[in-house]
Amino acid sequence: MKIMSCNSNLPLARAIAGYLELPLTDASVRRFADEEIFVEIHENVRGEDVFVVQPTSYPVNDNLMELLIGIDALRRASAKRITAVVPYFGYARQDRKPGPRTPISAKLVANLITQAGADRVLSVDLHAGQIQGFFDIPTDNLFAAPVMAADIQARYGDASLMVVSPDVGGVVRARSLAKRLDNAPLAIVDKRRDRPGQSEVMNIIGDVKDRACILIDDIIDSGGTLCNAAQALMDEGAASVTAYITHGVLSGAAVARVTNSALKELVITDSIQATDAAKDSGKIRILTIAPLIGEAIRRIADESSVSSLFD
Ligand code: R5P
Repeated sequence: MKIMSCNSNLPLARAIAGYLELPLTDASVRRFADEEIFVEIHENVRGEDVFVVQPTSYPVNDNLMELLIGIDALRRASAKRITAVVPYFGYARQDRKPGPRTPISAKLVANLITQAGADRVLSVDLHAGQIQGFFDIPTDNLFAAPVMAADIQARYGDASLMVVSPDVGGVVRARSLAKRLDNAPLAIVDKRRDRPGQSEVMNIIGDVKDRACILIDDIIDSGGTLCNAAQALMDEGAASVTAYITHGVLSGAAVARVTNSALKELVITDSIQATDAAKDSGKIRILTIAPLIGEAIRRIADESSVSSLFD
């Protein structure tokens, strides 16, 4: 088995390799003068079971292209099996046609990864579970919930908890976390988004008064959804609001928005490499999912159960 990384999240790739007690495969991903991407693998991978780690986060198109070219290099070097480890799957939010004459870009990206030569895909908290069906190759979708639940138990276990979904679409994810927290009660923020990139909180379904609210979502991008939801919960009398979000996309002014928000704390994972601004914010904490991904890789390589990781 070999673990290779492109440039998108080297610290995570190193931590995964560390968990598996393997060195990272010696490879370089470089740019020509005109920004073309060039990948070179400096060791033999013929007949190997190779896992290539590359979240397709910002800059999403460059990181996607690195992944595709990395897979192509591995295929042409006769790797036996190539697994695209994409902890954050960019373009996942474009998983259906929101209107006429619009693309389904998540499906296009799935096609590109498959055509490049991937035999399997491993991702974490896909925006929608059905994205697995966009691939005609085996796809494992891991959940960060066990890592989050352990942190919540350790930090907020004594509080009167309420798990909150920031929108109706996230209820299944929120319910699954609530189950792991001794069946904590569930509330829902009924949100209406008037324009893309903007969100507006309408009302809270559930009594959050004096509760330590745990907001859960897959992505924080502009931060609008989360910060508005946190304010709405505090307005309804919540004791505190902490957010657990798998993928800290944190575009534009999101870190400043979080820092100035009603949130007590934002907890994200290292599926995306955090910016310095996020690390320095004082309100953002990062949990590692390297052992979770490392263990899933070990099980895929051993051909043992991955789903039992979540029992
Ligand atoms: C939406 O369906 C996702 O689950 C997130 O709620 C959304 O992407 C967050 O975006 P933003 O932080 O820009 O409000």
